[in-house]
Amino acid sequence: MKIVITGADGQLGYDLKRVLGPVHKVIALNRKQLDVTDEDAVKWTLMQHQPDAVVHAAAYTNVDRAEAETEASYQVNALGALHVASACHMLNAKLVHVSTDYVFDGTKQCAYTEQDMPNPINIYGQSKLLGEKFVQLTCSQAFIVRTSWLYGAKGANFVTKVLEKARTTSELTIVDDQFGSPTYCLDLALMIRELLETEHYGLYHASNSGVCSRFEFARRILQEAGLLQSVLLHPVPTEQLPAVPAKRPMYSAFRHGAIERHGLSPMRDWEAALAFFIRYDYDDSALRKQERGVR
Ligand SMILES: NC(=O)c1ccc[n+]([C@@H]2O[C@H](COP(=O)([O-])OP(=O)(O)OC[C@H]3O[C@@H](n4cnc5c(N)ncnc54)[C@H](OP(=O)(O)O)[C@@H]3O)[C@@H](O)[C@H]2O)c1
Repeated sequence: MKIVITGADGQLGYDLKRVLGPVHKVIALNRKQLDVTDEDAVKWTLMQHQPDAVVHAAAYTNVDRAEAETEASYQVNALGALHVASACHMLNAKLVHVSTDYVFDGTKQCAYTEQDMPNPINIYGQSKLLGEKFVQLTCSQAFIVRTSWLYGAKGANFVTKVLEKARTTSELTIVDDQFGSPTYCLDLALMIRELLETEHYGLYHASNSGVCSRFEFARRILQEAGLLQSVLLHPVPTEQLPAVPAKRPMYSAFRHGAIERHGLSPMRDWEAALAFFIRYDYDDSALRKQERGVR
């Protein structure tokens, strides 16, 4: 297949390139090469490439800043998705649209299914949900893939931030009342590759399996990196930390009904994925250079 990736310089974009590149002809477009808020640019660029499929990984992902930059968030996450979906429909191309657990309010207390009603509690989640709706209404060959708590080799994420902090401090305070499913971008990219080979269009919840709190996640990160003895972890409730602009869902783990129903490979356990990432994929050379003052 000829596959266009939008947002190709993001953390998921990086792993999509690694996973799709060896098997398909991949055209990876970063924001400079294709700004998805530009309707004409999306149309003409996709017409020029005539892809069989598009993986739309571009998004406005700064959850806190979105509260102030509402318009920018909607421009990218809602209208950008609409532009990509319209172009895919016009070209008869498959579309994988990546969305988020933040479409839920987090009050369910057990894993969310694809049938559960979204109710986003922040601007980012609202703009992503509108993006999903535009895709559903516009493109007949669309897979909407919601994922959660992403981390990977590229970019700043919870895993890299915990490891970074562990090098400079001996104590860390982490919330223990927010629950979700950490997801390794490489595993999500593999799931997307498998999905693209099917025609089972529709909504998917895709995360590594299992659920943990942010505190348990941080503990396991330090353990896998051999740093558990050198850093003291303090669990705290969210309300004890300084307030941040955007509310977070307190519980946003997924059930993977659509993956199971369509016989797709189950995604591995979050602990196994994390262990693999830290052992084989996490490159801390940039951090070590920083410590030595090398630029
Ligand atoms: N990160 C998470 O924990 C998480 C959780 C659930 C779902 N998701 C979803 O997963 C997908 C991938 O997220 P990610 O973690 O890979 O995010 P990311 O690292 O922030 O990557 C997003 C990419 O989109 C690009 N982008 C922003 N505005 C754009 C525009 N107008 N046109 C084209 N590209 C644009 C960004 O470029 P710049 O860097 O130049 O702005 C960035 O390279 C997104 O749909 C996100 O909503 C993420």
